[in-house]
Amino acid sequence: MEILVTGGAGYIGSHTCLELLQAGYDVVVIDNLSNSQKIALDRIEQLAGKSVTFYENDVMDMNALEQIFTEHDIEAVIHFAGLKAVGESVALPLSYYKNNLVSSLVLFEVMARHNVKKLVFSSSATVYGVPETTPIDESAPRSTTNPYGATKLMIEQMLEDVAASDADWEISLLRYFNPIGADISGLIGEDPNGIPNNLMPYVTQVAAGRLDELSVYGQDYETPDGTGIRDYIHVVDLAKGHLKALEYTHPGIEAFNLGTGTGSSVLDLVTTFESATGIDVKRKFVDRRPGDVAACYADASKAERLLGWTAEKTLYDMCQDAWRWQSQNPEGYPREMNRR
Ligand code: NAD
Ligand code: WQD
Repeated sequence: MEILVTGGAGYIGSHTCLELLQAGYDVVVIDNLSNSQKIALDRIEQLAGKSVTFYENDVMDMNALEQIFTEHDIEAVIHFAGLKAVGESVALPLSYYKNNLVSSLVLFEVMARHNVKKLVFSSSATVYGVPETTPIDESAPRSTTNPYGATKLMIEQMLEDVAASDADWEISLLRYFNPIGADISGLIGEDPNGIPNNLMPYVTQVAAGRLDELSVYGQDYETPDGTGIRDYIHVVDLAKGHLKALEYTHPGIEAFNLGTGTGSSVLDLVTTFESATGIDVKRKFVDRRPGDVAACYADASKAERLLGWTAEKTLYDMCQDAWRWQSQNPEGYPREMNRR
């Protein structure tokens, strides 16, 4: 069965492609490498002992998509491609709206034309905005606080209208919480450009000596230790959730939270990292980061009930695996090997 994976060279896409190959799927990737390296795909092929068909194209390029759907017998699409940095989206809203919305529109149009109507979409817990209660279930009200989040919500709404117009579509909206960690091989992982915005890559780079010290944003939240609480989920568990969504047969559209259901504070993560690696992470407390919420974690029971999926890996596993990737690849993927 051939699966088209948009954004398959990226962090979550690469881990999902590996799971797909290992489960016996044939994988076709389209990625413009705007935030990834081609070598990630080479490493997946090495790990799986199987090849990926790669198109270095933009998903906004309708002709490229037409070619892919003509040359391959695509049964379903997993749509990861998109820009994802919250702060950048505030600075460059038009780039975010254009890239994320136009690529999605073009993709869904080409899918419909080729009668491929099974889709798994990378949504995000960001569509819950500032959550009123935790844990958050899929029926919680949706709102957004930045252009990135707005693109995710708009694509969800677009897909709800598509599903309402044509009962042949089977769409899963996967709302990820905070993916961290890496494949156990240490060969693929998260490779942010420049100084990381997210907690785990910042921690691993401090541990590696690339950055001096972690700034812990806020010590005065109404949480047990005063620091922000999130639902960190191992990227391999997350990847496996995509395979469960592909296997799930349902007419229409369903949203699923993919999280562990457990909240961990910034200090929980840092101290777990220290015990998993034996490395001290230098840190200081600074003011809250604007836009951050005190606590955000999932009620993941719907995914368990309908998809038969639950996260299995612990925070300790996530820290060990993130560190293995960072220590084996101190500078991330080699940049010079980007192009074929
Ligand atoms: P990533 O940046 O590592 O991967 C995205 C990939 O899409 C990259 O390889 C990039 O080159 C590619 N891409 C972007 N725009 C494209 C376009 N127009 N055409 C072709 N390729 C394009 O990000 P990720 O962390 O793997 O996230 C994957 C998806 O999951 C994104 O849609 C993101 O918004 C969503 N998501 C991520 C997180 C997270 O914390 N990482 C959380 C929730 C949701
Ligand atoms: C986690 C916790 C910070 C960095 C973001 C996006 C969200 C989603 C995932 C895509 C918070 C604290 C962080 C640091 C810190 N992406 N922190 N020092 O903000 O929950 O979610 O990524 O959809 O949309 O907003 O993740 O990793 O940035 O922060 O103290 O240097 O770590 O305050 O409590 P966040 P994060």
